[in-house]
Amino acid sequence: MDKRAFIKKASLVTVLASFGLTLESCSSDDEPTPGNTSKTTIDLNTSPFSSLKSPGGWVLHPTQKILLVNVGGTISAFSSVCTHEGCSTDWSFSGEFLCGCHGSRFDTSGNVTNGPASRPLSRISVTRDGDTLTLG
Ligand code: FES
Repeated sequence: MDKRAFIKKASLVTVLASFGLTLESCSSDDEPTPGNTSKTTIDLNTSPFSSLKSPGGWVLHPTQKILLVNVGGTISAFSSVCTHEGCSTDWSFSGEFLCGCHGSRFDTSGNVTNGPASRPLSRISVTRDGDTLTLG
């Protein structure tokens, strides 16, 4: 980063900080990227994933920006990068996914049920072999 770019970015950070914001929370110009999908293996007998063994169980993967949910015994996975402005860690689930950043809701197929998001969550393929999931 050259001096001019540094000063420009530092000025932006200062202005954002004065409003209690960070660059991460204002990344609407950046296209959200899907979660890390490079062949992740999950053991359903380990925490926090054991909740996925029961219908209605859900997990926000602690490190890989992936939402998982068990619907009627079938486990689905989605990128946790919200399609609105890219928040990835403030999720809850109560029959549908709620992004806590601005309130978008997504059904268990990843489709938007309530904006401001307008695009579905990115689906990640899931293969299940007993209590082992392979994602991606
Ligand atoms: S980032 Fe705005 S609703 Fe998710």
